[in-house]
Amino acid sequence: MAKSKSVYICSECGAQSPQWLGRCPSCGKFGTLVEEIAEAPVLQKQPKRERSASARRPVPLSEVHEEKFARVSSGISELDTVLGGGIVPGSLVLIGGDPGIGKSTLLTEVSAHLSKREKVLYVSAEESCSQVKMRCSRLKLDSSNLLLLNETCLEDIEEAIGDEKFVVIDSIQAVYTSEMSSAAGSVGQVRECAGKLQRIAKSRGITFFIVGHVTKEGSLAGPKVLEHIMDTVLYFEGEKEDNYKILRAVKNRFGSVQEVGVFEMTGEGIFGVTDYSGVFLSENRGEAAGSCVTPSETGNRCMMVEIQTLMAKTAYGLPRRMPLGIDYNKLALLIAVLEKRCGLPFFNQDVYLNAMGGIRLNEPAVDLAVCAALAGGHKNRPIDKYTAVFGEVGLTGEVRGVSYAEKRVNECIKMGFQSVVFPAKNFKSVKKFEDKIRLIPVQYVNQMIKKLFPEESSKE
Ligand SMILES: Nc1ncnc2c1ncn2[C@@H]1O[C@H](COP(=O)(O)OP(=O)(O)O)[C@@H](O)[C@H]1O
Ligand SMILES: [Mg+2]
Repeated sequence: MAKSKSVYICSECGAQSPQWLGRCPSCGKFGTLVEEIAEAPVLQKQPKRERSASARRPVPLSEVHEEKFARVSSGISELDTVLGGGIVPGSLVLIGGDPGIGKSTLLTEVSAHLSKREKVLYVSAEESCSQVKMRCSRLKLDSSNLLLLNETCLEDIEEAIGDEKFVVIDSIQAVYTSEMSSAAGSVGQVRECAGKLQRIAKSRGITFFIVGHVTKEGSLAGPKVLEHIMDTVLYFEGEKEDNYKILRAVKNRFGSVQEVGVFEMTGEGIFGVTDYSGVFLSENRGEAAGSCVTPSETGNRCMMVEIQTLMAKTAYGLPRRMPLGIDYNKLALLIAVLEKRCGLPFFNQDVYLNAMGGIRLNEPAVDLAVCAALAGGHKNRPIDKYTAVFGEVGLTGEVRGVSYAEKRVNECIKMGFQSVVFPAKNFKSVKKFEDKIRLIPVQYVNQMIKKLFPEESSKE
């Protein structure tokens, strides 16, 4: 018998190496190589060729039959939005997120809803059937038609799938295929199982919802290959302790990846939040210095988000920068702009920043609000409760125009804000709102600081 050999596979990118290395030569990540037992024609196993070469010929595009798929509602409108308008039959949807964030809860609700009309199988590889039943009763779901299966072997799962239209696999890390000897949840197993599920989905037209765990670093456990196999990849964001969770599409073959869904987690289940207007604002905004509200465009919708900052004297050596919700480098850059262009020293201040509600703000239009919050904190002067700020900040301290200015100002008006500070470049497009809200166009960060904290400018 041939001696079994080890290969080392990067859990980030899936690259293989014959020996253990501290750093993956392919993606450059440290400590990601894990040992797998290589079996004869390992990993790149292809499905058996069943037809002769003549069975499939190239066809002109004009002759290709266009499939019209009717989307199915999941019963949760926020989820439908993120999926691009509903579930596409025969697709593979991966839902990733930290443990306890609500993946099983969401999928139980979806399965219960779908089971009213179609046959749905819920494969619980992690929890027993009675645990799933307990959850259904807690969520007060009508799930009498829902089929449950407590199984971890993929081949047995495949056999158990009959004429179901929807199958939930909770979770991919807990199932294994008997064709490989490595442990369930290892890189090779996850990849192989996902590939098999894909073949089942495409050949039998079954829609799969697959739960995937997230590593400490925040990426899906298992190689990137897992994301490539899926049609749609959704991530749950937000801290476990926060009430609000954001579901974001990072890949979608049937819709935009711009969409986000806002969910609220309660003891009775997970609910889509349709009125998200006050979700990312604190109750006592405008009282303390160092916070600022910005209309942020996240996932095709505009939301008012409060950015809070706190400054504390640096105790030792280097000052700390601790942003939550925005990029670390972005915060460092904006602090540098404030120091250099506006004369506000931060070199002996630790800076903490938090975007309320655990939302992540990636767009450049939040720059100016971050600067406003930092300047307010530095001057120890609160910004008026009904003033919002948006705009991109350049390295020279200029305020650049941003996209969706109209939509942002509109949202400010809708939320009862009385004035808005924004890039002068966007003035033309929002001039029409002049009688509804006080418009304060600015060209430089300095100018914004003078407008927001007026008395000080008269002293200068
Ligand atoms: N009996 C319960 N009562 C109230 N809340 C619960 C109960 N059981 C679980 N939860 C809440 O449901 C949340 C989501 O759980 P779950 O959907 O199993 O998460 P995941 O599948 O993402 O790991 C947990 O964080 C917990 O706060
Ligand atoms: Mg779970």
